[in-house]
Amino acid sequence: MKKVFIQTFGCQMNVYDTGKISALLGHDGYEPTRVMADADLIIVNTCSIREKPELKLHSFLGDALKIKRNQDRPVTVAVAGCVAQQEGDKLLKRYRELDLVFGPDAVPRVRDLVSAARSEAPGATRQVLDTKFLDLETYAFASDLDPASKGQVGSFVTIQKGCDNKCTFCIVPTTRGKEVSRPSEEILVEVRGLVANGVCEITLIGQNVNSYGLKVPGELTFAQLLYAVAEVQGVERIRYTTSHPRDMGSDVIQAYRDIPSLTSHLHLPVQSGSTGVLRRMKRFYTRERYLEVVAALRDARPDIVLSTDFIVGFPGETDADFEETMTLLDAVGFASSFSFKYSPRPGTPALKLLKDEVSPELAQARLMRLQERQREISRELNAAMAGKTVDVLVEGTSRYDESVVCGRTSGFQMVNFPGSLDLVGQTVSVPIIAGFTNSLRGEAPL
Ligand code: SAH
Ligand code: SF4
Ligand code: F3S
Repeated sequence: MKKVFIQTFGCQMNVYDTGKISALLGHDGYEPTRVMADADLIIVNTCSIREKPELKLHSFLGDALKIKRNQDRPVTVAVAGCVAQQEGDKLLKRYRELDLVFGPDAVPRVRDLVSAARSEAPGATRQVLDTKFLDLETYAFASDLDPASKGQVGSFVTIQKGCDNKCTFCIVPTTRGKEVSRPSEEILVEVRGLVANGVCEITLIGQNVNSYGLKVPGELTFAQLLYAVAEVQGVERIRYTTSHPRDMGSDVIQAYRDIPSLTSHLHLPVQSGSTGVLRRMKRFYTRERYLEVVAALRDARPDIVLSTDFIVGFPGETDADFEETMTLLDAVGFASSFSFKYSPRPGTPALKLLKDEVSPELAQARLMRLQERQREISRELNAAMAGKTVDVLVEGTSRYDESVVCGRTSGFQMVNFPGSLDLVGQTVSVPIIAGFTNSLRGEAPL
């Protein structure tokens, strides 16, 4: 057996791709290891959404190439993911000992790529590059199941790749290419396979899941896909990410009335509370429209828990614009949010707006204010859960205490409560006794 070490940065798409890479390489005798120095093949699956995650690649590669240099057996080092797609050949030129660079579209071909790149002599290098984008007709999704899904409570299932939007800040359309919807039949086969492995929570993933199927004649819509997945025996919970507010249609909102296994949580990235900023981001919705979608969702599912993403300091963001973001945060009462300072990305349309750049100090101050207010809101919402009883799907034991288990509510709140490993995979009723910024504490299940 050869050993493969895969480091994953970035979003759920990369987590999913890493699972596929590991499944595919399993056919060639590679088994996963958690110790990088033991590996015959080291892969780093990279993210370039902002500058910071992109920088992680370089320190990681320093370590990986040192291992390659110091072993007396051949070690292959590969870069995958969004930085691989973005930088391609430049990475091979900068790191002469690097063996392989392949983009997200090349994941289904990883077996051939690795065998082409693998040298027999310790320390030798061949340098293979594959950053071709495949078109809609030729793109094929890998069907092998992530071996790690065995024994897991939840699993991702990709329903589309790429993104056809052009949000002006975003690198994803460059790194992931055109949107391709995966045939619904294939999606359902994967869901059934995962359920057979013991998985009971399915998270459908894509960069813009609400546009699923729209460009394929005869394909299900995203809402129809939700109904179809809900019908698969053994699927207890359905989640999905990411949704674009512009494409959040009334049929998907209706699904919250009809499908009990569709969880009461939605991550709906708003980016900004200012319609002017949203226009410059080319998000194609207004503040008012976003609030209407939220109201319709709450009407359909009164206990829905909302989370979001914010970008602060987008070029031209005024104090008044930022105040609109702050008031939107309060108006919606997001249970949690990810917030980031705008980070200019290579080749993106927003670079043209940089003459109106917000100073890093001001952006930082805004970010701190936003995050502070978010923590207060999260704490208040979670504290208000005390005294309620919630259904928790148990995921595992706590990292700090083996007599404490953790799991999530339908609304995606993390709950810690007394229990043991045999509860994993079960849904139990837990009385909540306290709520904190990031989690709830419960008593032993009823
Ligand atoms: N497809 C998803 C977003 C994927 S990227 C959507 O459309 O909502 C995840 C988050 O990263 C985005 O929601 C955004 O808040 C943030 N992000 C993306 N590009 C960024 C940039 N250039 N600077 C700062 N944050 C960025
Ligand atoms: Fe990026 Fe916009 Fe596509 Fe999301 S929808 S991946 S933010 S271009
Ligand atoms: Fe990062 Fe690529 Fe995902 S840029 S956020 S890994 S799509």
